[in-house]
Amino acid sequence: MNITLRQLRVFERVARRLSFTRAAEELYLTQPAVSMQIKQFEDTIGLPLFERLGRKIYLTRAGEELYRVSRSISLQLQEAEQLVEELKGAEGGRLAVSVASTVHYFAISLLADFRKRYPRVKVNFKITNRKGLLQQLEDNETDIVLMGQPPADQDLNAEAFMDNPLVIIAPPDHPLATQGRISLGDIQNETFIMREQGSGTRNSVERFFAEKGLKIGISMEMNTNAAVKQGVEEGLGLGIVSIHTIIRELQDQRMVVLDVEDFPLIRQWYIVTRAGKRLSAVAREFQDFIRQDAHRFVQTDLIRSALKREFIPPSAPTPSP
Ligand code: PGA
Repeated sequence: MNITLRQLRVFERVARRLSFTRAAEELYLTQPAVSMQIKQFEDTIGLPLFERLGRKIYLTRAGEELYRVSRSISLQLQEAEQLVEELKGAEGGRLAVSVASTVHYFAISLLADFRKRYPRVKVNFKITNRKGLLQQLEDNETDIVLMGQPPADQDLNAEAFMDNPLVIIAPPDHPLATQGRISLGDIQNETFIMREQGSGTRNSVERFFAEKGLKIGISMEMNTNAAVKQGVEEGLGLGIVSIHTIIRELQDQRMVVLDVEDFPLIRQWYIVTRAGKRLSAVAREFQDFIRQDAHRFVQTDLIRSALKREFIPPSAPTPSP
C-alpha cells in the first residue's frame, strides 16, 4: 500500500467539508481532479471512504477512521511548517494574514510598510467577511486575522487595537445631508443598502436597531463595501459602513456622514489568532507592528472632522489649518 500525502490532503478536505465541490474550490483544483484523487485513494486502500445518499455524501466507517488519522497528520505537518518558519526568523519567514473586507482599506498600506522593514518576508493576504474569517481560523489556515470582535465561544485570542466607527452615509445632495441632529425616528423613513448576512458590519447594525426596538427599511443587500458605496452615490439608499472605508469619498466630497443620534456606533478592530497556536517570529513581529503602528494608516484628521457632532455642510469652506 502506498498512501501519498497528496491523497491524504485531498481526502481530509473532502471529509471536512463533506463536499467535493467545496473541497475543490478550497484546494484550487477542479472537481474531476478531486474525484480522481479520492478514487485512487480508495483503490489504494481497497475500501470505500464515502457513500452517497441522495445529494449528500457521508463518511463510511473506514472514512471516519482515516479522517481522524489524516487530521492529526495534517496538524503535525502544519507544526513542522511552523517550526521551519520559526527557524527562519522574522527576516525570511512567511506570513498568512486574513482581514475583514472592511479592514483591507488600511491593511494593505500597513502590510506595505511592514514589508519595507522585512523585504524578504513572503505574505499571503486574504480578504473576506467575518463568517469566512472565522472559518479560516477554525481550519488553521491563517496566522493573524484583523476583524471586528470575534465570538466568545470559539477558542480564539482577541486583542482590540483600534476604534472602528460605523457611520450612516449619503450623497451630498441628499435632503438629510445638511440637517443636524437627525433622530433615529427620521431615518426610519429612509431605505438602506445593507451588507450581506455574515458581515460583521451588518451584525452590529442589526443588533443596534434591535436593541432600540426599531426596524429600518432595506432596499438592497450588497456583499462588498465598494458596492454599498456605489449604490449610495447612485442614490439607491443610505448606507452604513465603517468610516475607514470612505476616506477617498470624503476627500473628494462625493459622500457625507449624516449627523444621526447615537451614531457613529463605535466598534473595535481586533487582532485575532487561534488560542494555542504557536506564532512564527514574523507573525509576532507583525502583531507588534499592528499594536504600535496601525493608527498611522487611518486619516485621523479627516475622520475627526467627518465625525464632528456639530454638522458641517459639505459646501462649507474647509477651515484653514
Ligand atoms: P465585515 O467586517 O463587515 O466586512 O465582515 C467587519 C467585521 O469583521 O466585523
